[in-house]
Amino acid sequence: MTVVSVINYKGGVGKTTVTANIGAELAYRGHKVLLIDLDPQASLTFSFLDPSQWERELADDRTILQWFGTVLNDGGTAPLDRYVIAPTMVNDIISEHSAGRLDLVPSHLMLTDADLDFAADLGGSRFQHGSPRFLPLHRALASALAAPAFEAYQVVLIDCPPNFTMVTRTGIVASDHILIPARPDYLSTLGIDYLRKKVSELVTDFNRVAAGKVEQISPEILGIVFTMVQYSSQGPLLALRDFINHPATIEIPRFATMIRDNKTLFAAAGEQGLPAVLLPNANINVQYELQQLTSEFLAKIRP
Ligand SMILES: Nc1ncnc2c1ncn2[C@@H]1O[C@H](COP(=O)(O)OP(=O)(O)OP(=O)(O)O)[C@@H](O)[C@H]1O
Ligand SMILES: [Mg+2]
Repeated sequence: MTVVSVINYKGGVGKTTVTANIGAELAYRGHKVLLIDLDPQASLTFSFLDPSQWERELADDRTILQWFGTVLNDGGTAPLDRYVIAPTMVNDIISEHSAGRLDLVPSHLMLTDADLDFAADLGGSRFQHGSPRFLPLHRALASALAAPAFEAYQVVLIDCPPNFTMVTRTGIVASDHILIPARPDYLSTLGIDYLRKKVSELVTDFNRVAAGKVEQISPEILGIVFTMVQYSSQGPLLALRDFINHPATIEIPRFATMIRDNKTLFAAAGEQGLPAVLLPNANINVQYELQQLTSEFLAKIRP
């Protein structure tokens, strides 16, 4: 099982879209994939589920919010498998084609409250390393995913909110890799170096506290994926090229595949409960790029 967090400090750069499409394409190709929505906006959840179904069947007791609640009550370990659901629309398409499966741990709009409770539990917002709760809370998701119920999954993708609070940190601690979607513009590339620094600080802090007690962590940056790229007939617009070359200047790997801008296709995707890559009769260019991105992703996590 490989766990990958999808994160960027910048909002609206395509994190959720990349998570949903890589996850669905992997499942379509026969992999067993688990998506975990850690964002209180719950966009990943609503990419696959109707909000009214979410409200009726899940909101009260079957989302990551309630799971984090039990983590806080039980001191850091709580089974996660009863919060896993199989969204029907996307799995109907997948099952016609392969034995793959796409499961989801849905999010909740109140998840920001869990972050506040976490902070309080650790003795304030600065996450005191001396707190006896530091390790169990940081490892909550990692421990939960180590349960036998999750052995069947080959890939776990975690859609992170655009911040670095406790909920996000549980995702990073559970991850083998970090994937960073970004738009090729000034503000989206600005925070990437800072994100790398924050991840490295977390790893250092965690490993210092973990030394001799639990396994060390070493989440690696898999690379930056550029999304919403505008093209002319010669390739990406000239004005974008400096931003596309930016990762190389800060020595962060970049995916060769970029996802072009296509408002029509991506706007339609969520409403149908299917990610763009699986929409029938859609724009071939973008779907091809999403398939290519998935192949590149697989090659990077299984070198
Ligand atoms: N390649 C694309 N072309 C056009 N629109 C896109 C593309 N990728 C994503 N979008 C749209 O851009 C918006 C933001 O994308 P998305 O929700 O994936 O970003 P995000 O980084 O997860 O945002 P947030 O920080 O709010 O979680 C969505 O409306 C999505 O449909
Ligand atoms: Mg998102």
